Amino acid sequence: MRSSGGSFRKPEPPPPPISVPALAAQVIERANREVPADAALRSTLKNARGLSPVDAEAISNAVFQHYRWFGWLDAEAPIEARLDHAAELASRFERNPESFSDNELRANAIPPWTSLQVEAPPNWARSLQVQPRLWLRAHPNYSEKIQDQLEVKSGPFPGSFLYCGSEDLFVHPAFHAGEFEIQDLASQAVGLVCAPQPTETWWDACAGEGGKTLHLSALMQGKGMIWASDRAAWRLERLRRRTARAHCFNYRVAPWDGGEKPPTRTEFDGILVDAPCSGLGTWGRNPHARWTTTTTDVLELAEAQRRLLWHVRGSLKPGGRLVYAVCTLTRAETSEVADWFSQTFADEFESVPVVNPFDAHSAPVSPLTLWPADTGGNGMFIASWRRKASK
Ligand SMILES: C[S@@+](CC[C@H](N)C(=O)[O-])C[C@H]1O[C@@H](n2cnc3c(N)ncnc32)[C@H](O)[C@@H]1O
Repeated sequence: MRSSGGSFRKPEPPPPPISVPALAAQVIERANREVPADAALRSTLKNARGLSPVDAEAISNAVFQHYRWFGWLDAEAPIEARLDHAAELASRFERNPESFSDNELRANAIPPWTSLQVEAPPNWARSLQVQPRLWLRAHPNYSEKIQDQLEVKSGPFPGSFLYCGSEDLFVHPAFHAGEFEIQDLASQAVGLVCAPQPTETWWDACAGEGGKTLHLSALMQGKGMIWASDRAAWRLERLRRRTARAHCFNYRVAPWDGGEKPPTRTEFDGILVDAPCSGLGTWGRNPHARWTTTTTDVLELAEAQRRLLWHVRGSLKPGGRLVYAVCTLTRAETSEVADWFSQTFADEFESVPVVNPFDAHSAPVSPLTLWPADTGGNGMFIASWRRKASK
C-alpha cells in the first residue's frame, strides 16, 4: 500500500487470534440490564471474524455457565478466574449433583428476592443448573421426516421432539422448508390448552414473533382464522417471515398497543394473552436474567398483564374462551393476576379448569402451574376463563 509520502508500507500483520476465554470475558463485560447476555454474545460473535463454529459454541457455553453459577462466584475476581470457577462447579454438578444440597442450590442459584414471590418446589433451583434442552415441534405431516433427518427423540406431545444433535438447526434445509419449529415444551403446552378448533376465529393478542400463532394454526389444520397482534412492529415482521416459511396462511396481522381499543370489532371464539412477563420460567435457558430482574419489574409487568386482560375481554363471543399464559412463576404475575380477573369480572367470566398436557389423565386444575423440573423445559403458568352466555 502506498503511503501519502510516496513510500511503501508493509501490510499490517493479522491481529493475533483471540482466545475463547478472552471473547467470553468481552461478552460478560458488555452484558448488563439493558444489554442481555444473549444480545452481547450475538454481537461479539458477529464481530469476531474467522471464528469456528466450535469456538463460537464454546464461548456461548462459557458465558451461560458463568451466569448459571454466578451466585457462587467472587464478583471481585477477574472474569477469567470466574469462568474457570464456573466451569469447575458445572463439572462437579455433572459428575455428582448430590454434592450440592437443595439448600445450597436455593441460596446461590436464585436471587433472594424470589422467596417473597415464588413458592417453589425444592427441585426448582436444581432444575435451573443443567444445560437446557432443545425442543422441536414438527409441522403436521412432517414428524416421520424429522425423525429420519434429525437426531431426535420423541417428546410427550404429538409432533414434539427432543433435539439430541449438534447441528446448527437454523441453517438446516428442513428448517428452511418449514418442516419444524424450535419451540419449548411449555410453550407447546399453551397451544394444547387453547385447543382451537378448525372452524374458529382466535386472537393471539401478544403474538410476538408468532411461536404460538404457528402452533394454533397447525392445531386448526390451517383452517379458521387467527388475528395476530403485538405492539412491536419488528416482531410482527418476523412473524410474517416465519409464517411464510411454515406455509401458514390462516392468519392476519393486526398491530395493537394493548390499549382500550381492540384492533378489530371481530368477536372471537378464543383469545390467547401470552403476556409480557419477568420470565422466571426461562431462567434455566437464560441465566443472565436471574441477576438483572427486579421486584419492580415484576410489579410493573403485573400491572401490564392486568391491563391486557382488561382490554381484550370485550372481544370475546359469549361462550368464548380466554387463555392467559406467562412464562414466569412470581405470585404477582400468576395467581394474583388470575384471582384479580376472576373476582373483578365474576359476573362476565367463569374460570375453566385445564387439563395438564403433560399428564392427560390428571384431573383438570385451575390454574395450571408448570415447573421446569416437570416439563424438562421452561416453567409456565396458564389460566383460562369462559365468557358467560349473557354479556
Ligand atoms: C411472551 S412474548 C410473546 C411470545 C409469542 N406469543 C410467541 O409465542 O412467540 C410477549 C409479547 O407481548 C408483547 N407486548 C408487550 N406489551 C404489549 C402491549 N402492551 N400490547 C401488546 N403486546 C405487548 C411483546 O412485544 C412480546 O412480543
